[in-house]
Formats: sequence, C-alpha cells, structure tokens
Amino acid sequence: VIGPFAVLPIVNAIIAPDGHSRHATLAGGTFPGPLITGNKGDHFKIKVTNELVDQSMDLVTSIHWHGLFQKDTNYADGAAFVTQCPIVPFESFLYQFNTEEQAGTYWYHSHFQAQYCDGLRGPLVIYDPNDPHLGLYDVDDESTVITLADWYHYVSTVAPLITEPDSTLINGKGRYKGGPPTAFEVVNVVHGERYRLRLVSISCEPAYKFSVDRHSLTIIEVDGINVKPLEVDSLQIFAGQRYSVVLNANQPIKNYWIRALPNYPVQDYSNYTNVAILRYSSAPISSPQGDPNKDVPQRNNPLKETNLHPLDPNPVPGKPFPGGADITINLDVGFTLAPEPAYLVNNATFTSPSIPVLLQILSGKRNASDLLPKGTIYGLEAGKSVEISIPAGAPGGPHPMHLHGHSFHVVRSAGNSTYNFDNPIIRDVVSIGDPGDNVTIRFFTDNPGPWFLHCHIDWHLERGFAVVFAEDVPDVASQVKPTVDWGLLCPAYNQFNPKE
Ligand code: C2O
Repeated sequence: VIGPFAVLPIVNAIIAPDGHSRHATLAGGTFPGPLITGNKGDHFKIKVTNELVDQSMDLVTSIHWHGLFQKDTNYADGAAFVTQCPIVPFESFLYQFNTEEQAGTYWYHSHFQAQYCDGLRGPLVIYDPNDPHLGLYDVDDESTVITLADWYHYVSTVAPLITEPDSTLINGKGRYKGGPPTAFEVVNVVHGERYRLRLVSISCEPAYKFSVDRHSLTIIEVDGINVKPLEVDSLQIFAGQRYSVVLNANQPIKNYWIRALPNYPVQDYSNYTNVAILRYSSAPISSPQGDPNKDVPQRNNPLKETNLHPLDPNPVPGKPFPGGADITINLDVGFTLAPEPAYLVNNATFTSPSIPVLLQILSGKRNASDLLPKGTIYGLEAGKSVEISIPAGAPGGPHPMHLHGHSFHVVRSAGNSTYNFDNPIIRDVVSIGDPGDNVTIRFFTDNPGPWFLHCHIDWHLERGFAVVFAEDVPDVASQVKPTVDWGLLCPAYNQFNPKE
C-alpha cells in the first residue's frame, strides 16, 4: 500500500500469476500494482518513473487515474496523446492532483495503447473519514479490495484481432485451462462481521458476473458514488467499473466460492478458472463444496442498473425529457476492416496525433474543428448541460463507455426503453448494451480540458473507439502549471509556443 506522496516505478518482469510465465509491464513490480490510498481532499503527488527495458513490449508509458475528475489539473490525466506525450524510458512525470469532493473506489492504469493488458493496472482507494456508510451499515472492515482481471499469454503488441483471455485473475491469482493447480486467492472473514468489499474491474475486455456462494451483496457505492443500499446476489461488472458491496459473514463456518464468470464467448467456465475462496476463520484450509466450474445461481436476484440510485439527491443537468440538454450529441459507432481494422465514431477513428490535444490547444488552436485527429474532437462550451446518446450495435459489444473528467447521469440504461430524469445512477463507465439499446448520459461542463470518451475494452480503444471532448477551451490554458516540463516530456512540443 502506498500513500498520496509516492514514487511509482514502471518496470518489466517475468511473472506467472496463473502458472504460465510471460513478460509483463508492471507498476511497482507486482500484478496488480500496489494499492494506492488517500483521504478525501488529499493533494496527490505521484512521481511515475519509466524504467522499461523489455523490447518485446511498449517502452513508453503514461498513467491515468481512473475516475478522478482532475479538476483544474487536466494535464495530470495521463491519457497519452490527449493530455501528454508518453513518458520515455529513464524519464519521469509528476502527477499532481486534488481529490476535492471525491471518495470511494478507483484504479489506475497505463493509458498508452493496450499496455495495461500487459499488467500495468492497480487499485486506488480514497477514504472518507465521514463516510455515511460507516454509520449506516456498521461495517467492521473496509480494507478488502478485490480486483478482477483478464490475463493473456501473449503480449499486447502481438495481440490478434480477436483476443481471447487465457485466465481470470482475482487479486492477481487464477488458473488457466489445462494449467497447474496454482493457489486461489483467499478472502478471510470472521463469522458475525460485516465486510465492505471493494470490487474493481481492471479488465481489458470481459465483463464479469460476480457472486459469492450463499451470501448476498449489498451495493453501497458505484464508481465513487454512494448509492442507496441495494441487495443483490450477483452483479455484472464491466471493464473499468467499481462496486462496494457489504458482505455479512453470517453463514455456517466453511469455505465458499467467490465467482467471477467472464462474458467472453470463447473461454468456458471449466477447470476452476474463474474462482477465489471466501474462508471463515477456523474453517478448514480446503476447497469449498460446490462445482466451481459452472455458473451456479442459487437465488435469482441479479443487479439491474436501473435499480441503482445515488444516496444524495443530485439533479440531472438539463430538462427532464430526451434532447432537453443545452448540447445534444449522438455517437454512431461502426467498424471497418480496411485499411486497418478500426472502430469509427460518427465516421472518424481516433488515431494518436503527434501533438497531444492539450498541447495543440496551448499552442493556439482554439476551435475543435482545427484539432487533430480530425473529426474526433467535439468542442463543448463551459456551463452547459450535455446529453450523449450512443446506440449499440458495433461488433464486439457490449461496449463499456468511460468518460474522463466527469461522472455522468445514466438517464437511459442498457436494456431499457424508458428514461429516468429523476434519480438515475451516476457513474463513470456504462455499458451501452445490445443492438436496439440507446444508452444516454448527461453531464455538466464545469471542468476545462480535453477529456477522452472511449470504450474501456482496451483492445477497442487501441483500434480507435474514442472521441475527445474539448471542454471550455478558453479556460484550458490558464490551468497549466509551470511544474510540468513539457519540453522534456514532449520534444515535439518545442516547435510550439505554449505562452502564446
Ligand atoms: Cu480507465 Cu481512459 O480510462
């Protein structure tokens, strides 16, 4: 565990979390990376140093702090080619940001190509000393973090068009089909206590159906937003999403399977590949009963997104009807095979510009239409309500869409034809569902900077499934601090004049 003032070295290692050795790119040398913690209101100062040497993978990097708004610190958002050039080997970048009013469960990951699939991903938790849930639920322990990850035996730089994970790693442990019987992750509990489990999907691709045999889960937080408690027996968690659930250890003293079943069509559920163990104190050190190879729902109470509501009332920006925002944007997603397999959003593919979008703005470009890559940058004025609709249908879905710099109200969820302008869930990653769905989100432009909106399936982002919102461009230049040495980190930037 490291605190808000830290050095985070990015290194290469050969690791075998599921029993198969492979080259990896890691934060701090472990998979997942170290848990980073802080308190609400902390000023984070994290120096990321690039110590990468392994030529079989990417040698540059950039770290994104997923879910943190980066209010007035857009330049610390870590999105390569949007807010910064990637960090070159033997260089470092000092990420400084405030957490202001944010607390809850987050994560961090490489935001350079598909590098996080090679291992550069880890959890980040911001504690709130006045968390309303501490009083409401009498949680005895809130230190448990459970990361869910897909793991590949090939490195990301040679990944095929159709990717297939070899294993599911729960807190960095798992097995692959036909592999050795490596140790499962064990989550220890004491009978009679209540636990806040912080689930973090650090997945590159699959969604997971998460459950714990014979235990219900009471959801109290979604993507850093406290929610009205909702009891479920399983939940679908998409790449990039987080949930805090309260687990009441009130069952007979035994071992129970924790299951994280991927929605991936190719990988099957057999051979113990997707489980961990919930172990009660003084239960035997053995495997749980029950078939670990299958989806074994014992009740039938899965999470429905429309049943989630924020704990604090928070009005939806704009008027309470579809299209009732100041700015309405529809994003149609398509796919092309030529000249390269790529996603198209309103007919444009996001390809990395040679000058990051933020630096294009600082060097004098003020109109979204002048910013590169062409057709992927949408200008948004300050102080406006924005509505984004994303009809589903692009191949490889359901696609989990993530917006940087904001959380958003999900006024229309996947699988729903009706809108909720009253008390919809607020989150930062939403699944856009299956063909026929038209997931619609709202947010308010109160945070200057270019912000990515992209599919959080990392393989899809790499194939251009992204747009950038250039929010409040006139105010962007005023927020860049002199502590950032653009000239060193972004040599191409020298051709431009930042102080224009
Ligand atoms: Cu979690 Cu743009 O990322």
